[in-house]
Amino acid sequence: MTEQEQQNDRQRRIERMRWLVAELNRASYNYHVLDAPTIPDAEYDKLYHELLALETSHPDAVDPDSPTRRVGDAPIPEFGQVTHAVPMLSLNNGFNDDDIDNFDRKAREGLEVRQVVYNAELKFDGLAISLRYEDGRLVQAATRGDGYTGEDVTANIRTVRVIPMRLHGGDVPAVLEVRGEVLMFKRDFEALNERQRASGQKEFANPRNAAAGSLRQLDARITNERRLRFFAYGVGQVEGADLPDTHSGLLDWFEALGLPVAKERKVVAGRDGLLDFYRDVGERRKSLPYEIDGVVYKVDRIEDQRALGFVSRAPRFALAHKFPAEEALTTVQAIEVQVGRTGAITPVARLVPVSVGGVTVTNATLHNEDEVRRKDVRVGDTVIVRRAGDVIPEVLAVVLERRPSPEPAVYELPKQCPVCGSHVVREADEAVARCSGGLTCAAQRKEAIRHFAGRRMMDIEGLGDRYIDSLVEANLVKGVADLYKLTLDDLLKMKRLADERDGTTPETVKQGKVATKWADNLLAAIAASRQPPLERLLFALGIRHVGESTAKTLADWLGSLALVRRAPAALLRVLPDIGGTVAESIAEFFAEEKNQIALNALLDAGVAPKGEHAPKAQLREKLDEIKLLAALDIPKLTEPRARQVVGAGQTLEDIGVRTDFGIFGLPATVAAALEEWMAVRANRELVQSLAALRRSLLESLPEASAAAAPEGPLAGKTFVLTGTLPTLSRDAAGALIEEAGGKVSGSVSKKTSYVVAGAEAGSKLAKAEELGVTILDEAALLALLAQS
Ligand code: IVH
Repeated sequence: MTEQEQQNDRQRRIERMRWLVAELNRASYNYHVLDAPTIPDAEYDKLYHELLALETSHPDAVDPDSPTRRVGDAPIPEFGQVTHAVPMLSLNNGFNDDDIDNFDRKAREGLEVRQVVYNAELKFDGLAISLRYEDGRLVQAATRGDGYTGEDVTANIRTVRVIPMRLHGGDVPAVLEVRGEVLMFKRDFEALNERQRASGQKEFANPRNAAAGSLRQLDARITNERRLRFFAYGVGQVEGADLPDTHSGLLDWFEALGLPVAKERKVVAGRDGLLDFYRDVGERRKSLPYEIDGVVYKVDRIEDQRALGFVSRAPRFALAHKFPAEEALTTVQAIEVQVGRTGAITPVARLVPVSVGGVTVTNATLHNEDEVRRKDVRVGDTVIVRRAGDVIPEVLAVVLERRPSPEPAVYELPKQCPVCGSHVVREADEAVARCSGGLTCAAQRKEAIRHFAGRRMMDIEGLGDRYIDSLVEANLVKGVADLYKLTLDDLLKMKRLADERDGTTPETVKQGKVATKWADNLLAAIAASRQPPLERLLFALGIRHVGESTAKTLADWLGSLALVRRAPAALLRVLPDIGGTVAESIAEFFAEEKNQIALNALLDAGVAPKGEHAPKAQLREKLDEIKLLAALDIPKLTEPRARQVVGAGQTLEDIGVRTDFGIFGLPATVAAALEEWMAVRANRELVQSLAALRRSLLESLPEASAAAAPEGPLAGKTFVLTGTLPTLSRDAAGALIEEAGGKVSGSVSKKTSYVVAGAEAGSKLAKAEELGVTILDEAALLALLAQS
């Protein structure tokens, strides 16, 4: 190549680099700021790598605006200092309607007008930053610092994708300082903490701390990984441009320059307009992707802003209307544990009382042992507590700088239950430790009774915590059945003890008069709870993992306590929405002798669920042998394998007495696993009892399909639908088949009459082919329906 040719070649490459920078920056703005991607990610990556390669071979021609410059350089020893040309002041805060009235009144008086127009916007919970653009190019970014001098965080700010390195549009001012807030979106915060956790690093207490920690990184490469965001809300020094004459106009102008401005902003009139905005944002606060701690009102006309001016370090023309704080600092006085209904041991921090969002908080949950360790909360620590909405207050993080010295000891969960002294045990795969005392533990007994008597359970009105505590402490109630044996004397004794304990003995009692009406009422309430709907009784029993909806499923499908209490896990598991863990938990509960005794005691005490009924007719379809066999959780015996066994003509009864399974074409490992499992007597008996229960259920259940089906021309025919049909939805096809008297089943067996297969039919089609079942497409199905 001649020198000239080389020159031309270089020029061409440099032009290409320019074009790539512009193209990539445009795509990035559309993606990050407008949230409207214009090119696919893969295309972006391709162009980005092309640019990177060109820049590597022409390092002298790298455009400072290049997106490759955003990834951050090697760590620097410390941040430089930046003096703000226009100081970064703060806002006065308002907390209630009166504060807003005052603010608005002073503005009206100061401007001598009847009504003031404001721009209302969000108060972002992040860090204030000043971005300096010269001739449209980002030249410096600085933190607020003390308002007059901040830190130079330019390298870090370059990694923030939403911040343009070059302002949009041709007509840009010579100098423009943009003020705004750097913050982290909630989802990015969650993801960051997830990564911190996974790599054993300390988690951040909240998105604000995470944003601060990320921005003040001496290594900008780390900032780059943190996905910070930015919203512009104000202006510092400006040269070479006429500013818009309103604040709302300023924000519009920012948008036109390619700067991110939050959409939640509104020009409103008077205090009513302000308060409406406050309420509206307050309602939508939770659904915003980032955290805010209030809203900000600014007099909209810049001229009016100038007229109102500043008092000390805050403008008279603006006010931050704060939401009640959700977080506060306080000190941990002690860490105690609570014992729950299932024995779960929950560490709780006792705190120096502190007001959080208008409510005094004295306790905060520490969740479990691992959480205490992870947050490293110790007695004497200063902590951040959070109370969001109606959730239980929790300790978010420790302020390590304020840990007393000498350092308090690392917290350890007690080895013994503080209530009953039983061992505290923690299963290998569980986060919670539990008291092993069961219902011998007074704490667990109290909680069990509290749950049992609850409004959505047995609904015993008047049986509050205080009475439950003394009933248990006086040993008048050991188990829930004892409630039904209580006499008037028992209750009076219990009340006496409770009053003595709490020092609340009424004067009348001291004078020898004893009120009994409350006790009569309580006895009546207890008696009235004797006939609960079955689902309430099941919920009241406090079976782990059984909430209201599972209890309802059990009651609807099985109909009676007698059946629920003897149903093996495999049967429970085929019911809708009951998974393996829940099914196991229910079966284990009823297998436990002490629970059976407690339940019998309840029945003996006259508790009888009302409205018990026969199992639901549809249970017949759930009693599919393949499903049941697979639900037994036998190692390696997946549903297709179970299908193979049943398909080979084996009933559950057969399987329960077999010892050799090497005959159904099962892989040797599966057959061996099955044989090993069946060699355990309890397992064999389980299969046998499941088979027997299934048979007796089938005998007692109404012949669901037999009752409805024999009418139609497709009576007695079983269909399986698989894949996507060209015109009919699966439901529609099923309805047509059932209308004609056919039955639709979920799995293919040799009893299946037809398999209707559409596009992307999978294993069911293969199975049908294997068993030689007739296969229809949609047209053939419609033809069959028309014929019949
Ligand atoms: S204006 C002279 N607008 O609140 C007025 N500040 O207490 C300067 N902040 O340090 C601030 N959202 O970090 C303004 N929409 C908003 C804001 C906002 C959050 C922060 C900012 C500042 C503090 C003022």
